[in-house]
Amino acid sequence: MISSTKILLAKYDVPAPRYTSYPTVPYWETSPTTAEWIGHLKTSLNETAGGWSLYLHIPFCETLCTFCGCNNIITKDHKREAPYVEMVLKEWQLYIEAVPELLKKPLKNIHLGGGTPTFLSAEALTELLGPILSSVQIDLNDFEGSIEVDPRRTTTEQLRALRKLGFNRVSMGVQDFNPEVQRLVNRIQPLEITENLSNAARDMGYTSVNFDLIYGLAKQTVESIRATAESTVQLRPDRIALYSFALVPWIKPQQRLFKDEDLPKAAEKRELYEIARGVLLNAGYIEVGMDHFALATDKLSLALKENTLHRNFMGYTDQRTDVMLGLGVSSISETPYSFHQNEKLLPLYQGALEEDRLPTLRGHILTSEDRVRRQQILKLMTQYEVDFINSEQALQAQEFLHEMIQDGLVSISDNKMLIQEQGKPFLRNACVFFDERLKHKQPQTKIFSQSI
Ligand SMILES: C[S@@+](CC[C@H](N)C(=O)[O-])C[C@H]1O[C@@H](n2cnc3c(N)ncnc32)[C@H](O)[C@@H]1O
Ligand code: SF4
Repeated sequence: MISSTKILLAKYDVPAPRYTSYPTVPYWETSPTTAEWIGHLKTSLNETAGGWSLYLHIPFCETLCTFCGCNNIITKDHKREAPYVEMVLKEWQLYIEAVPELLKKPLKNIHLGGGTPTFLSAEALTELLGPILSSVQIDLNDFEGSIEVDPRRTTTEQLRALRKLGFNRVSMGVQDFNPEVQRLVNRIQPLEITENLSNAARDMGYTSVNFDLIYGLAKQTVESIRATAESTVQLRPDRIALYSFALVPWIKPQQRLFKDEDLPKAAEKRELYEIARGVLLNAGYIEVGMDHFALATDKLSLALKENTLHRNFMGYTDQRTDVMLGLGVSSISETPYSFHQNEKLLPLYQGALEEDRLPTLRGHILTSEDRVRRQQILKLMTQYEVDFINSEQALQAQEFLHEMIQDGLVSISDNKMLIQEQGKPFLRNACVFFDERLKHKQPQTKIFSQSI
């Protein structure tokens, strides 16, 4: 890597949000009351020309991967499956009673995330999904059902049960194929396990297989990440998420187990990305947004080409719906008017449902300014360019981003901001310009991971 790039990487490696929402969760301010939240859902469903999306969170994992930043509960007790399924179905019941519009507008996609959704057996998955999917409107020609699976803990029975329910996409947690890296993150996952599951999914008719990889993990080297990327392209997933390791030990204490000297720093970390990126591009993958790659024929690449790429709490997607309802502990929902998050602690989530209450933890009602900023950040994150709302905003950007402009990372012309090719690693930094809330109130403690 040339030294000027190294200097830039060190200079701009600062804490910054990943902007899967705006305002970002730590800046949510005015929670909607239950009545307001229900009202926003109803209005948005009535107003939308399209359908809606459903996210289901299954928090359980049998073992803890030490890098993990997800909302999870570590347990080997599978007796917890049935009561959890019952809780989520109760939550669904409360929603359809309060918002019957959910049954009138088409469900465009459902996503099961976690934790590890395949902690639930094939029977438990069917018990959970059967009643929901049979009560909503679905056009199978225009429907995506996707699930995040841990290949170490996924059986063909589970994939078959999901296929029967209309699921057509599967996303596999891989992270890294190197045995030493796997040992250090407490996740031993021989390549054959991933390969066999991937082949089984295709044989069953899943039309899209995604692999999650992470760069920046302890003991990853240029050679090891190249080998991981080469093994990945051999298996030819349709999509690859190449995530930057988000180091947030103040939220996830298990990440303190990593030795500082084992973790690659800004320039070294970015080099790992560049190496993997090179292998993926050479193999015909297209880079999409900040950390995703897809085969040219995949819908994500087509959405990039047609400027219809979208980003939500789950990351980049080709499916845009205005309404996303999240069910399950800690789930986040969104409408054009507000965000809403469920209780993050299982006993509180359960307690609310036992009292026939929606398990609201917090949320945010978007102001008219929030809505404009949200669209600008979304545009920059998905298309690398955005129009200013007026010439005054363009002048403010000239001033705020003058170093990034001088360094050739961002350009401003014709009332537009453009991310240059060499500026792509610094996309999060450029988005900060539109983040009025962050600019007005800098966090007093560390809340965001580093931007690189
Ligand atoms: C819920 S997990 C995927 C499903 C399943 N639990 C598994 O691990 O295979 C979602 C993905 O988030 C990513 N992830 C988790 N913690 C992360 C972190 N600290 N930094 C970057 N990516 C992370 C991993 O790539 C992981 O596959
Ligand atoms: S990476 Fe997946 S399996 Fe590992 S702890 Fe996190 S959610 Fe669980």
